[in-house]
Amino acid sequence: MIIIIDFGSQYNQLIARRVRENHVFCRIEAPGAALEAIRCHSPQGIILSGGPSSIYETGSPKIDPAIFSLGIPILGICYGMQFMVAALGGKVERAQKREYGFAQLSVTHPDGLFKGVRRDTTCWMSHGDSIQQLPPGFHATASTANTTFAAAFDTRRKLLGVQFHPEVDHTPMGAVMLRNFLFTICGCKRSWTMKSFAKETIREIQQTVGDKRVVLGLSGGVDSSVTAVLLHQSIGKHLTCIFVDNGLLRKNEAVQLKHSLRQHLQINIRFVNAAPLFLKALRGVTDPERKRKIIGRIFMAVFEAEARKIKGAEFLAQGTLYPDVIESISAFGGPSSIIKSHHNVGGLPKRMKLKLIEPLRYLFKDEVRQLGEQLGITDDLIWRQPFPGPGLAIRVLGEITARRLTILRNVDEILLEEIRKGGFYKKLWQSFAVLLPIKSVGVMGDARTYENIAAVRAVTSRDAMTADWARLPHELLARVSNRIINEVDGVNRVVYDISSKPPSTIEWE
Ligand code: XMP
Repeated sequence: MIIIIDFGSQYNQLIARRVRENHVFCRIEAPGAALEAIRCHSPQGIILSGGPSSIYETGSPKIDPAIFSLGIPILGICYGMQFMVAALGGKVERAQKREYGFAQLSVTHPDGLFKGVRRDTTCWMSHGDSIQQLPPGFHATASTANTTFAAAFDTRRKLLGVQFHPEVDHTPMGAVMLRNFLFTICGCKRSWTMKSFAKETIREIQQTVGDKRVVLGLSGGVDSSVTAVLLHQSIGKHLTCIFVDNGLLRKNEAVQLKHSLRQHLQINIRFVNAAPLFLKALRGVTDPERKRKIIGRIFMAVFEAEARKIKGAEFLAQGTLYPDVIESISAFGGPSSIIKSHHNVGGLPKRMKLKLIEPLRYLFKDEVRQLGEQLGITDDLIWRQPFPGPGLAIRVLGEITARRLTILRNVDEILLEEIRKGGFYKKLWQSFAVLLPIKSVGVMGDARTYENIAAVRAVTSRDAMTADWARLPHELLARVSNRIINEVDGVNRVVYDISSKPPSTIEWE
């Protein structure tokens, strides 16, 4: 295992990704982590990340310098290197201006980190302070036009530093350098696979839970489904999942989910039909944020009431992913779990005195999908497009009525059917229909109509932070539009949303 100390660099998740791509497990820890805690993990190597601060700034992140005497190989990147150099008796000077961008790297010692790296290669620089003198025991191993100490190595203590970022694509030989660190310098083995992760996690869950009971809020999304299956394979009937049908799901969604999860995987699930409760509370509400608040509040109440019926429940499981955990490490200076707003159970663990179990808290989204495959979950669950917690409530613009929900469901069903048929479902981040709160005139047969407008939204995205409208083939859009207008009672016009995020958002409300 490798420990990454988070000094605040925007590239930290990338370092973790790069390490894991090599089948080596890693964890990101806050600089405040106690050395004892780090030692407990028995890491084979430590990476000190970059960071936006200057080591001379008050309040800049620091780690106990005794880390350099643990006898564990350490790679300092950028700020991490400057911190190491200053802590071990070298000289770091506050630079007037930041060095940022591509630089030509001249490797002077083609061994260690640079084994198999050309003598002249490009690297990506992004640092403020600059190193004037290396600490005793170190020698420079690469330079750039701006610095003689672009990289350095203390071979005896296995301490290394680079002023540039090997983890970004802009450093083309960076992957080779990281592999040299992991395998040659730290002696890691390529042993971390989803199979080993699943095995180990199942064992951990069994140890933690013992013969107690666990409650899990199931949304039908990939994260909560994988969490459910992982727990089910660990503790079987000691897991109870709660699925709240809020009446705002897509057509047949609850039924299909019931089938996939209960029939196929034999998971213990309680389905709560709370649709009337949600729809009653949403009557007459048109403001999107009010809709969200109402839905969140009722979800909490329904979930809590159901969870209280499960006698002897001591744990609440959640599908929290690593990016959320990392965000909270950086924001609060120490690991702490945050609750996803999606199935927001807020203060529930505290009120019901439940302990949290988050078995996916060290995984990225694509790793969760790999884990799902490993656990034997079917493709239709693993590759489901994200669906917002408030569901169709934020896709029926304006007031939500049973009739408008039915219209939208029928439109949405046709759209998804055609998207799947065309082979686009997996390629799109999301694809869905929106029912607009205005009507337009049309003509059907010989009669004038005055009916609803449906908008079609399909986007590509990596993480939903930004998104682009999908360039779907015109033939596909034509078929979708034709079918919707002909088959769905109450719609006489279809429009396609061609806005990107930003400045638009993915959802319309
Ligand atoms: P926007 O519309 O902000 O959406 O571009 C980004 C992603 O988040 C989803 N989304 C939500 N998910 N509760 C959720 O659980 C919400 O209130 C909510 N609003 C938006 C949206 O579907 C997209 O994937």
